[in-house]
Amino acid sequence: MFSVLDFFGMGAPILGRTLPDPYADAFRGMLAARAVISGCTLDVFGALAERPDTAAGLAERLDLDPLGVETLLDALRSLGYLEPAGEDGELAPAAEVRRMLVPSSPESVAAFLGAQNAHHWTTLARLDEVMRTGEPVGWHDVAPGDPLWDAYIRGLFESSRHDHDDNAAVVPVSDARTMVDVAGGHGAFAMAMCRRHPHLRATVLDLPASVAVGQRIVAEQGFADRVAFREGDALDSQLGDGLDVVSCFNLVHHLSMGENVRLFERARAALRPGGCLVVGETDRPQPGDEIHPLGALSGLLFYAMSRARTYTRTEMTGWLHDAGFARVDLHRNEARPWRVMLVAQRPA
Ligand SMILES: C[S@@+](CC[C@H](N)C(=O)[O-])C[C@H]1O[C@@H](n2cnc3c(N)ncnc32)[C@H](O)[C@@H]1O
Repeated sequence: MFSVLDFFGMGAPILGRTLPDPYADAFRGMLAARAVISGCTLDVFGALAERPDTAAGLAERLDLDPLGVETLLDALRSLGYLEPAGEDGELAPAAEVRRMLVPSSPESVAAFLGAQNAHHWTTLARLDEVMRTGEPVGWHDVAPGDPLWDAYIRGLFESSRHDHDDNAAVVPVSDARTMVDVAGGHGAFAMAMCRRHPHLRATVLDLPASVAVGQRIVAEQGFADRVAFREGDALDSQLGDGLDVVSCFNLVHHLSMGENVRLFERARAALRPGGCLVVGETDRPQPGDEIHPLGALSGLLFYAMSRARTYTRTEMTGWLHDAGFARVDLHRNEARPWRVMLVAQRPA
C-alpha cells in the first residue's frame, strides 16, 4: 500500500501537478503529518504491533487520554496506517507501517518521522518569526544533552543508513586507511566505508553534543574500535594530513558560501594526492531543472534551523574546482532524486 516514496511525498503525482491544491497542502497535509508524528512519538505503532488493541485498551496501556487516542486512531485508520485486527474493534499497524514506523523493525524510520520531525514541527512553527527577524532557531547552538540532539542524530542515522553502502562504493580509493567525516554525526558513512575497506580507521569530527549521541550509535552498531570521534568546529579544526578520504554529508547547507569554500580548501590540503573529498547534499534546482518539492521544501527547514540554504551542483562544483580539485564526479541517488553526491579527487 505504501512505499518509501510515499513517505517522501513522491507517491502522489506532485511532480507533474500543475494546479496548486491549498487544502491538500496546508490543511490535510498538516493534519496527516501531525497524526503520523504523534503515532510515532506516543508509541502507538509500536504498542499496536506488539498487541492489537482497541482505543480504550491502548489508552490504558500508554497512559493517555482515551478520547484523544480514539480520535488519533480514527485519523490513522482513515490514512490506511491501521487496519482492523479482531472482532472487538482491535486495530493493528498495516504491513508497511510495521516495517517503517515500528521502532524494533530493522527498516524503521520512526525516530526520523517521529521524534526528529516533532522538532521540525516546532521549528517551522517559528518560520514567520525567523523571516521577520533573520534570527534562526539555531539547532546547532542547542545545549548538549538537550533531547533535540538524540532525536536529530538518531533520526538522521535511521533515514540515511541504507544509502551509505552505495555511497561508499563509488568513492574511487582502494584500501583506504584514513578518513575524516566532517560533521559526520551518527557515523553511518564512516561505518559503511569501514565495511568496504578492511584496514580503514575513520574519525568523525563534529560538535560535542552530536559526538555524544554519535558515539552511542557507533558502539551499538559494533564499530567503536574502528570509528573514533573528535569534538571540534568544522570551520577551524585541524582536519588531518595525508588522508585517503574527507567527507561531509549535509553540512554545506548549514554554512555560508565563504565558509564552504574555505572548508573545501582545507579538505584538499588534508588529503594525500589521489585522495577524495566526498560531499553529500540536497541539490538546489538550477535554471532548467524540474524543481523537486522535497528538495525545495526541506530548504525551508534549513533556513529556519540555521538561516542557510541549499546550493546548486554548479555552485558546489565551482567551489571544488576553485579549491584545487581538477576532477569532480556527480552521483545521483535514484530513490531520492533531490540528493547529489560530489566526489572530488586531489590531483596525483
Ligand atoms: C544535518 S546534520 C548531518 C549529519 C550527517 N553528516 C548526515 O548526513 O546525516 C549536520 C551535522 O553538522 C554538525 N555541525 C553543524 N555545524 C558544525 C560545525 N561548525 N562544526 C562541526 N560540525 C557541525 C551537526 O552537529 C550535525 O551533526
